[in-house]
Amino acid sequence: MTDPLTPVLSADWADERAWTLDAYTRRGGYAALETALAMTPADLIALVKNANLRGRGGAGFPTGMKWSFIPTDTDKPKYLVVNADESEPGTCKDIPLMMASPHTLVEGVIIAARAIGARQAFIYVRGEVLHVVRRLRAAVREAYEAGHLGERTGVDLVVHAGAGAYICGEETALLDSLEGRRGQPRLRPPFPAVEGLYACPTVINNVESIASVPAIVRGGVAWFQSMGTEKSPGFTLYSLSGHVARPGQYEAPLGVTLRELLDMGGGMRPGSELKFWTPGGSSTPLLTAEHLDVPLDYEGVGAAGSMLGTKALQVFDQTTSVVRCVLRWTEFYKHESCGKCTPCREGTWWLVQVLDRLNRGAGRSGDIELLQELCGNVLGRSFCALGDGATSPITSGIQHFREEFEAGLHTPSWELFPPVASTLFAAEGVGA
Ligand SMILES: Cc1cc2nc3c(=O)[nH]c(=O)nc-3n(C[C@H](O)[C@H](O)[C@H](O)COP(=O)(O)O)c2cc1C
Ligand code: SF4
Repeated sequence: MTDPLTPVLSADWADERAWTLDAYTRRGGYAALETALAMTPADLIALVKNANLRGRGGAGFPTGMKWSFIPTDTDKPKYLVVNADESEPGTCKDIPLMMASPHTLVEGVIIAARAIGARQAFIYVRGEVLHVVRRLRAAVREAYEAGHLGERTGVDLVVHAGAGAYICGEETALLDSLEGRRGQPRLRPPFPAVEGLYACPTVINNVESIASVPAIVRGGVAWFQSMGTEKSPGFTLYSLSGHVARPGQYEAPLGVTLRELLDMGGGMRPGSELKFWTPGGSSTPLLTAEHLDVPLDYEGVGAAGSMLGTKALQVFDQTTSVVRCVLRWTEFYKHESCGKCTPCREGTWWLVQVLDRLNRGAGRSGDIELLQELCGNVLGRSFCALGDGATSPITSGIQHFREEFEAGLHTPSWELFPPVASTLFAAEGVGA
């Protein structure tokens, strides 16, 4: 790992009207598409496979391998679906990417669709972000007018706005929602590569995964692998938020550390010390100041007992109550639980009850054990990963900050950690 920052996706975000076709084309946009049009689908898949691009939606599944699962010996139509539902607390990379450079995604969509033999592609975008929906639709219109979409390339693209449910980011719930049904996860097998959208072979990829494809076509395998680590090559967007001086998107090689990213982000806010952080959104187990030098790639964060997830680095300082924070996240999971399976539907409700009384200083003896038991009944027994993820902040919070949960038996979190003492308020001169 050498370069501190490797702006590829974000290189031109600050350009004048960067989101327009003119600006994108001026800086070489859609040249990768022309290269790809001269390649066979098999060669395109091999390129992305050899680059070892790993899916940026959370699990890090190799993108080229996912594409290679699409059967070639079928008459059924094939579909490419881009997952732009981005709703995980702390995760905020796809929305800025689509706002600043929607054509990077559109170009990636056309190349990926050709690789898997799909004539129809969809971008399923979170419905609340109307500005992004509009920007994407404008970009798609421009791409049709320029002949990038449509007859010449044989790819059509529809931007579909979801109705604001976190579960619709789960890939099979997304497919149900796209088909017009209530978004709930499907039983697998069959996997989407075999029976996905309208029971046809379907690839579902995250926005950042697909947006990375044009750069790989342009730069090639060796260039891509000159960044990042051996098993997690390439560049990626790290979203730094919380008690940090300069929050934002930091595009860096995989394997960078939080210490390096914090340095680039101007350090913690004045008066703040790092207490805990999430490596990849609220579904990934919390880490602490001990983990500042963990390489932020799939292997490094896994070895530290967490997950890289969406690389949403939420950073919290000493004024933050772990119990209150974990309660807020659990309320989110309870609210977003789709209700299909009992462990998650009931479990998240009970977890909120127990956490709420600990937050109020009204916990009962045995509540910490009760939380652990409830988490044990949700983790690995839920129908989809929402249930598993809901337990991560709780079990890791207890592991690292048990004394704060114990204090919940007698003292409210707001007495131990008065919100007005937060450096977020102090910096604005509020609550002084
Ligand atoms: C509850 C839940 C929400 C999810 N939300 C998203 C999301 O908003 N965006 C996304 O790309 N993946 C999300 N995922 C992961 C997807 O199911 C899927 O793994 C991903 O889109 C695959 O893309 P990739 O291979 O490019 O990483 C979510 C998963 C779960 C369980
Ligand atoms: S784990 Fe939760 S979100 Fe997933 S299917 Fe079960 S109830 Fe629905």
